[in-house]
Amino acid sequence: MGLYEKLVRPLAFLLNPEAAHEIALGWVASGMFECRVPHDARLAVEAFGISFANPVGLAAGFDKDALAVDWWDALGFGHCEVGTVTLRPQPGNPKPRLHRLPKDRALINRMGFNNAGAHALRLRLEAAWPHLPVGINLGKNRDTPLGEAAKEYAALYRTLAPLGAYFVVNVSSPNTPGLRSLQEPEALREIVRAIRSEKPRKPLLIKVAPDLDEPSLDAVVELALDEGLDGIVATNTTVSRQGLSRDPGLEGGLSGKPLQPLADAALARLARGSSGRLALIGVGGVFDADDAWRKIALGAHLVQLYTGWVYGGPKTVARILNGLLERMEREGVRSLDEVRGSAL
Ligand SMILES: Cc1cc2nc3c(=O)[nH]c(=O)nc-3n(C[C@H](O)[C@H](O)[C@H](O)COP(=O)(O)O)c2cc1C
Repeated sequence: MGLYEKLVRPLAFLLNPEAAHEIALGWVASGMFECRVPHDARLAVEAFGISFANPVGLAAGFDKDALAVDWWDALGFGHCEVGTVTLRPQPGNPKPRLHRLPKDRALINRMGFNNAGAHALRLRLEAAWPHLPVGINLGKNRDTPLGEAAKEYAALYRTLAPLGAYFVVNVSSPNTPGLRSLQEPEALREIVRAIRSEKPRKPLLIKVAPDLDEPSLDAVVELALDEGLDGIVATNTTVSRQGLSRDPGLEGGLSGKPLQPLADAALARLARGSSGRLALIGVGGVFDADDAWRKIALGAHLVQLYTGWVYGGPKTVARILNGLLERMEREGVRSLDEVRGSAL
């Protein structure tokens, strides 16, 4: 056990989860964390026209307002996804809205897109000097009627387009009423077309819920291919409570270990359906190198983590990267392209 597991995590876990999150984000943003990270060309990944130093990224929601965007590379991340950002700032749901389930290595959140809004994010990114690709995850304000969502996603994109390496349409958070109905092909098509009518054109992906059934996942693939999208992020948190030792009766999206089988199943389905024509980002229950390897073998170009970082601490990504390199040597693999899809 390292210092983080022995000392820092127990102390941090005495605080309420949202306070601990804010302190951790403040520490990262101050640049006080840096760890020895492997830089190795064998970890490099090309996806949707972007070169990534390694496949491991920070999932959306951790650094919603891009406060620490200059520092995530120092902790080993190969990309970070900021947001979800909404057009207008909004406070999110009433607290408490984030809960730890340490026995299950999970979190349940119903944050509700608390964020400083598109204008603030724009100013923040204009002042930043990130050394890694920054994706921007877009969502709709809670009080915007679903019928006006497409217009709002387009306005968001217009505000932020020059500043993101890639964009993600988030229609899969369980914490904004009605949002997930926008995963229906008709609604999704309208949103994608509205964004695609804006300039400049940047890589565009959709983030899906792990609770979609197989026909719905197939429909998302078909739409993504039809509309010339670049990829799919699989997945967001789940509303199911499968895999928990005990259902705590809390509302919100479940992330971490219990999500992993659902997220992996969705990823595999998307990979089979798209057979290499879309880039896939595998998210959900990544804690270690084996988890990252499995997602890549199931077809992911990139992986992301949130809950695994909360439980594993600042050295998590370095550990994952070292573990990937060790396994590549063991299996005689020279690049992650050789691993991708091998488990399908
Ligand atoms: C507290 C919290 C806030 C999140 N906020 C967002 C968000 O704003 N937008 C989004 O697309 N996903 C959000 N997510 C989902 C994560 O990006 C990720 O898809 C999910 O947690 C599964 O990955 P994990 O098991 O590594 O945590 C959030 C997750 C957590 C735990």
